[in-house]
Amino acid sequence: MKKVLGIETSCDETAVAIVTEDKKILANLVLSQQEHLAFGGVVPEIAARAHLNHIDTLVREALQESGLRFQELDAIAVTAGPGLIGGVLVGVMTAKAIAAVHNLPLIAVNHLEGHALTVRLTEDVPFPYLLLLASGGHCQLLVVEGVGKYKRLGTTLDDAAGEAFDKTAKLLGLSYPGGPAVEKIAKECTDSAAALAKYPLPTPMVGKAGCDFSFSGLKTAVKRIVDRLPADIERRDAADICCSFQHSVAQMVNDRTERALKKYLSLYPGQKSPTLVVAGGVAANQMLRQGLEKISARHYVRFAAPPLNLCTDNAAMIAWAGMERLLLGMTDAVDFPVYPRWPLDADAVREH
Ligand code: KG4
Ligand code: ZN
Repeated sequence: MKKVLGIETSCDETAVAIVTEDKKILANLVLSQQEHLAFGGVVPEIAARAHLNHIDTLVREALQESGLRFQELDAIAVTAGPGLIGGVLVGVMTAKAIAAVHNLPLIAVNHLEGHALTVRLTEDVPFPYLLLLASGGHCQLLVVEGVGKYKRLGTTLDDAAGEAFDKTAKLLGLSYPGGPAVEKIAKECTDSAAALAKYPLPTPMVGKAGCDFSFSGLKTAVKRIVDRLPADIERRDAADICCSFQHSVAQMVNDRTERALKKYLSLYPGQKSPTLVVAGGVAANQMLRQGLEKISARHYVRFAAPPLNLCTDNAAMIAWAGMERLLLGMTDAVDFPVYPRWPLDADAVREH
């Protein structure tokens, strides 16, 4: 039974995990850096230093928790991009050192591929499936045709979905990361129809051809509302704005995803088990999940989403993507580079 250790350091989570070929997570340690709280966003230099301070301890703890020694591992997988390059370098140099000392194969994992394949660690989902990948840095609709094989149907033209949540939270003085904070306070809104009428927000791209997203107009609209209100916004108003914001995001995501779903079903007809998968931190949002579940049901498509702790950044997803690659013999040379930008599908297919 093969075992892979995965390392993730591309943003503000220092994470180490060990997974097995038969889909057992032997260890899954995530340290969310608290150093950035005062800044309302991730500071790259601080992130890289914090990764450096914690990564060795986390590797040791992951081995302890799984009762394994380095020699019992079959490969080391590490995020090689895209992301904040200082942090990526810390993870990659750690992985290379372990691999060199213990003579283990190395696998350079695209962080996005980690998100894309996570669902296959927790459920049996066959290729090809439609993936909505919505995180702090990305918002894409892709067909996952196989390991390393992606067809992009749509992407954001400006901000990522998570970025919109984070910026809205910042404007309202809520904590970082913004997604969970916005979702929590939106639940306090008791009359969503009234909130939408009081604070109407735009839904860019809805009804337009293709499957691309755009979130920057939404952010500007929130800013305009906030600018009109007193500096210390009342909690009830913040709840109403967040409720309206979530509705707009959901409407956009639902519209774009349903279009992509139709395209996917027409591109791959006669599949036994067509599936819509959501991944990335924003996929933790309950309202978005519910909307996507409904769309899937409407088109007789299976809906699959990893558990919440595997939607946000973690190393189990990197270890698992490494496992999928290892099983296909896709290992990397010890001198592989790091990639600040690394799209899953270089020649993106777009519909206009
Ligand atoms: O995938 P992820 O952990 O890191 C990146 O690769 O970017 O995604 C982080 C993003 C952040 O923007 C965060 O605000 C958002 O995911 N997020 C959420 C929720 N939980 C995290 N957005 C909406 N609702 C949530 N519950
Ligand atoms: Zn991520």
